[in-house]
Amino acid sequence: MSFVNSVIAGVGSYLPERVVTNHDLAKLVDTSDEWIRTRSGIAERHFASDDQVTSDLAANAARKALEDAGLGPEDIDLVIVATVTPDRTFPSTAVYVQAKLNIPPCAAYDISAACAGFVYALSAAHDAIVRGQVKNALVIGAEKLSCFLDWNDRATCVLFGDGAGAAVLSAEHGGEGGRGVLASYMCADGRLACNLYSDGGPSSTATVGKVRMNGREVFRHAVDKISDAVMRVSERAGVSRNQIDWFVPHQANIRIIEACGKRLDIDPAKVIVTIEKHGNTSSASIPLALDEAVRDGRIKRGDLLALASLGGGLAWGSLLLRF
Ligand code: UT7
Repeated sequence: MSFVNSVIAGVGSYLPERVVTNHDLAKLVDTSDEWIRTRSGIAERHFASDDQVTSDLAANAARKALEDAGLGPEDIDLVIVATVTPDRTFPSTAVYVQAKLNIPPCAAYDISAACAGFVYALSAAHDAIVRGQVKNALVIGAEKLSCFLDWNDRATCVLFGDGAGAAVLSAEHGGEGGRGVLASYMCADGRLACNLYSDGGPSSTATVGKVRMNGREVFRHAVDKISDAVMRVSERAGVSRNQIDWFVPHQANIRIIEACGKRLDIDPAKVIVTIEKHGNTSSASIPLALDEAVRDGRIKRGDLLALASLGGGLAWGSLLLRF
């Protein structure tokens, strides 16, 4: 039986030029390279320049994804940007990306699901494709988190970085065993919002605010809920976890990634880890990891991938797809 599915036709990513190492941060904040590496797995992160906004990072990643897909701007009929650091309160960052890439009029909007944003955005694009509304969707996770950090809070400011990753999701006629999204799962629990949030916002303080996090609580929920989400999509798709070729988790903490891998009984050699080089880039971290593993030849066409993430909300989710 043939049906329309959505497949990843291309991926791309972008990291701003400026690299800030743990040693650089130790000159500004009471911390050390040793603490940051052992507690989080991060060695360095990239910070955007003052004149770069999130849509610039997003557009750079998106151009590469379009090129990788062999498509032009005129082929795109949906743009979704997952971000918590939009250029402006409104309009969406997606419309600025659309304008920067010369994408003709089409649906364009942002998704605010923090670190789970890319999984949420892929899932939304997949739905639009299988409903027949869209042929090629540009799905981007992009963040300029450096504008959000409290340099007096060493427990958060050392963890985050800026960057963007993108995927082109395209309609393809497939069948059983074919490429495409096999299952997705999204969830959120607003009762846990107090554990990770910005303490500002347009309708509360009329400021952007700073990142606030109860690290230990988020850590615990991340391990539980990311693992649970991967189990759910595996069950929904009827695949066993040893069939997963690559686990591409949110890059927030190497210890969270390892604990999830262990709980899911996934061989560490099948886990994509890129946190060392860019820190926690929220919604950009999964597409950054995906792009790196595709570029270096680890992830190949036909591989079964499990993407999963948790972040502010708390919001979490997973997506199982054949690449
Ligand atoms: O992307 C969204 C999801 N976010 C996450 O998943 C993050 C989840 N949480 C974490 O990754 C970890 O909880 C952290 C990396 C944030 C912290 O690691 P931890 O092992 O939970 O450390 P902790 O917060 O329990 O702090 C341990 C100690 C404390 O000192 P005392 O109270 O034991 O004396 C902190 O004050 O480490 C201290 N500390 C630091 N020391 C040096 C906290 N931050 C720093 C720092 N440098 N930057």
